[in-house]
Amino acid sequence: MQTSGVFDAITDAFPGDPQSTDPIDPRWQAMTGEVAGYTGANELAVLNLAAAALPEDECYLEVGTFKGRSLVAAVQGNEGKTFYAMENFLEFGMAGQEARAELEDNLRRLGGSADIRLLEGDAFTLMAEDGVVDRPVGVYFYDGEHTMLSHYLALAVVEPLLADEALVLIDDATWPVVQRAHGLFLKRHPGWQISATWDAQHADDPRWANGLHALVFRRVAGRRRGLSRTDEALRRYQTTVQDRVNKVAWGAADRFPGPVKKLAGLVLSRSRAIGSDDH
Ligand SMILES: C[S@@+](CC[C@H](N)C(=O)[O-])C[C@H]1O[C@@H](n2cnc3c(N)ncnc32)[C@H](O)[C@@H]1O
Repeated sequence: MQTSGVFDAITDAFPGDPQSTDPIDPRWQAMTGEVAGYTGANELAVLNLAAAALPEDECYLEVGTFKGRSLVAAVQGNEGKTFYAMENFLEFGMAGQEARAELEDNLRRLGGSADIRLLEGDAFTLMAEDGVVDRPVGVYFYDGEHTMLSHYLALAVVEPLLADEALVLIDDATWPVVQRAHGLFLKRHPGWQISATWDAQHADDPRWANGLHALVFRRVAGRRRGLSRTDEALRRYQTTVQDRVNKVAWGAADRFPGPVKKLAGLVLSRSRAIGSDDH
């Protein structure tokens, strides 16, 4: 799709600099009260405008739907477009399981008549399956697991599915771990650029949550579609070894919430710091 039109629409949707003003349309602020979740009002406005710009022969793909806040925002007024959402209901332990019922309810209440195709499972496995989407992905929103490897793979694994020009929106991008993954990925993969960075002023900023970065992908003519041997090996590691580690970790977090939370806080504090010099 023509990504430049989305950036123009974003400029028009805010009274001033989107970084530091609220969207003109009050729906996005209201939606953060209506649907539990982790995305900020300004992010919801951007997702909706991106989906609105999709041509009919391309689709929207989201990884990390949780209770559906970002997805419900994307579909508003965008009936007639095709939306794919991937969610494994693994994070947040039992809360993840409860999220499924709330997601279904939110989609019934607020999903309208949009064509929403919910794919349950691990995104790094699903995205590599033949025919997982029935048309090129024009808008991709990644809000799944946030490790260095998963953020690298979030771009690598989707690349073959993308339209020749596509908008890629990455949540939590103010975190140093995400920016390091992008730096590494962009160095090795032509056709990508970071086009806008709306950073969080502090953790869980009501406008931008933990920051949203917009990347534009333009397929380089003649370049082979598909993962390189290295990227495929990383994907296999993520979907076999790392996936099992995650399941054990979230299970332990359910059984021993106090100690696991303390340990996770120690491990993650630097890679997810906002407002530090560790970028
Ligand atoms: C921060 S939440 C998403 C929030 C949501 N976008 C919103 O607007 O509130 C992250 C979600 O990603 C899901 N997730 C994490 N890794 C995943 C993976 N590899 N495949 C599919 N879903 C994944 C988690 O289960 C969790 O529900």
